[in-house]
Amino acid sequence: MRCPLAAARTYTALPLILAMAACIASQQAAAQNTERSGKEVVDSVCVACHGTGAHGAPKIGNKKAWAKLASRGLTGLSKNALNGIRQMPPHGGNPTLTDTEIERAITYMVNQSGGHWNEPVSRTVKAPERSGEQIVQMQCSKCHRDGVGGAPRIGDRSAWIPRLKQGLDVVVRSAINGHGGMPARGGMANLTDAELRSAIIYMFNRDTVPPKAP
Ligand code: HEC
Ligand code: HEC
Repeated sequence: MRCPLAAARTYTALPLILAMAACIASQQAAAQNTERSGKEVVDSVCVACHGTGAHGAPKIGNKKAWAKLASRGLTGLSKNALNGIRQMPPHGGNPTLTDTEIERAITYMVNQSGGHWNEPVSRTVKAPERSGEQIVQMQCSKCHRDGVGGAPRIGDRSAWIPRLKQGLDVVVRSAINGHGGMPARGGMANLTDAELRSAIIYMFNRDTVPPKAP
């Protein structure tokens, strides 16, 4: 999906801003899935040697050989797979593989050979722990629900559009730093930039303004 990012600053039409927000949300979702599974890495890279046992590679399915390797733990095996050892090239010969992908591939081969390891979760691409909706309910709604101190209200398009005209990135940066009655990161220091961004998209995308608290 191509995003109208470069154009964002000059466009003021609502549909475009909406498209942009949806687009950015989908890009984030995509980024979290870019790392391949152990099976994918093994099938495309490692199988070249580990499928047949070429050059003395421990063959996938050889329980005895892999049980011995597995007893050394994932950390030790990953270190050798990352750096290479004897006939085993660094990164299995594919320098674009991330550490997590290598670890997943090792885990997959161990499990194909009688092991029971859990596939490691990614460390490079951390999934946002909290959704925009959760963050807004937890924190931002304290001010953005009723418009405390002039905060643009959740779902109030006419209040958000003029701010988003400068582009989402500018508004995210502004929320990171805070200004006026808006505290830095909305007063939640542990929010990641991505979480802050989802919260803003959520507040903007809500199409109804919640009733003011009595
Ligand atoms: C060009 C052939 C080749 C490819 C491709 C290859 N390996 Fe290997 N691998 C070997 C050989 C040969 C050994 C045995 C090295 C030795 O102990 O002498 C080995 C050993 C290993 C070991 C055991 C290391 C140790 O500490 O003893 C692991 C783990 C491993 N490979 C993981 C992988 C992963 C993961 C991939 C794919 C990303 C991969 N290999 C791709 C040839 C290959
Ligand atoms: C203590 C009250 C308060 C809390 C909590 C709060 N905000 Fe705000 N926010 C404001 C006020 C007031 C403004 C308007 C500031 C101004 O433009 O002077 C504002 C403005 C903003 C803006 C517009 C910034 C701009 O440059 O136009 C964004 C985006 C924003 N808040 C996001 C958030 C998010 C996300 C959260 C929750 C993580 C949050 N806020 C929590 C009070 C708050």
